[in-house]
Amino acid sequence: SGSEVELIRHDGSDKGIATIAFNRPKAKNALSRSLVGDFRQALDELRSDSETRVVILRSAVPKVFCAGADLKERATMSPQQVEQFLHSMKVSFRELETLPQPTIAALDGAALGGGFELALCCDLRIAGPQAVLGLPETSLAIIPGAGGTQRLTRLIGASRAKALVFTARRFGPMPALSMGIVNDVANQESTGDSQNIGESGYLRALEWAREILPNGPIAVRMAKRAIDHAGAVDPVTGLDVEQLCYAQVIPTQDRLEGLRAFKEKRKPVYHGH
Ligand code: HXC
Repeated sequence: SGSEVELIRHDGSDKGIATIAFNRPKAKNALSRSLVGDFRQALDELRSDSETRVVILRSAVPKVFCAGADLKERATMSPQQVEQFLHSMKVSFRELETLPQPTIAALDGAALGGGFELALCCDLRIAGPQAVLGLPETSLAIIPGAGGTQRLTRLIGASRAKALVFTARRFGPMPALSMGIVNDVANQESTGDSQNIGESGYLRALEWAREILPNGPIAVRMAKRAIDHAGAVDPVTGLDVEQLCYAQVIPTQDRLEGLRAFKEKRKPVYHGH
């Protein structure tokens, strides 16, 4: 189709999982106008898709997740076009962050600058052994401008965020895990794995998705909404928001199914209503 962003809806026992795959090999998935446009279209489709319960973001390009903003395209744009583009990129990040479903970034290669900031908009991050993360902006004499200074600081605290931004340092999956930037690190690629293209992070992300999948879909969405308010409103308002989110799950059939299944000592089957 020529699209630089593929949207795959899984089926069989993985029905309910959707994968968004960036596929712009010639520029290491750098965020261009066309890629961001395709990305926003995929997000728009998923937002209203009640069948999709978990979303994974990955790269279809070996050894890179996303190299950040397209620095070459940037050089061809007028200042006004740059401004419009950066706006659209930031809107797409916010659209990702506010998807109602849980989102998982599978980091099997370089996620730098805007590519790292993109991953920060997901609910979970799972790294492969070849992940390389970093915010190199100050080495380009700019600063992280797609939410990085705010989202990273909320995630790991000001001092660790400053250390990473001031030094522009690139780091691997284990430091990322110890700082709490990624939730999990997959093992070394198994030998014989299609030329070590690096997708063990994605496979581990799929395992996480499968663990979320059987849980009440409305409950998971409401939990995401409530938790996201914790960083956005004062504590007392946050408790009110939790109460409102809780109220949404009370009238669901799924809640009754959960109680029935417990009583009957079987696994519940939830339908999202
Ligand atoms: C445009 C890029 C690019 C980028 C790589 N390419 N990154 N093109 N924008 N951000 C291109 C290269 O120019 C090259 O083109 C091709 O992709 C392959 O790249 P290589 O470097 O040869 O590949 P490799 O050795 O595998 O290294 C991959 C990499 C490295 C680790 C991702 O390319 C890299 O470090 N890129 C720069 C990352 C970076 O600094 N990002 C931050 C951008 S600033 P040719 O034509 O030579 O094949 C940012 C700020 C956002 O994101 C702020 C928003 C407000």
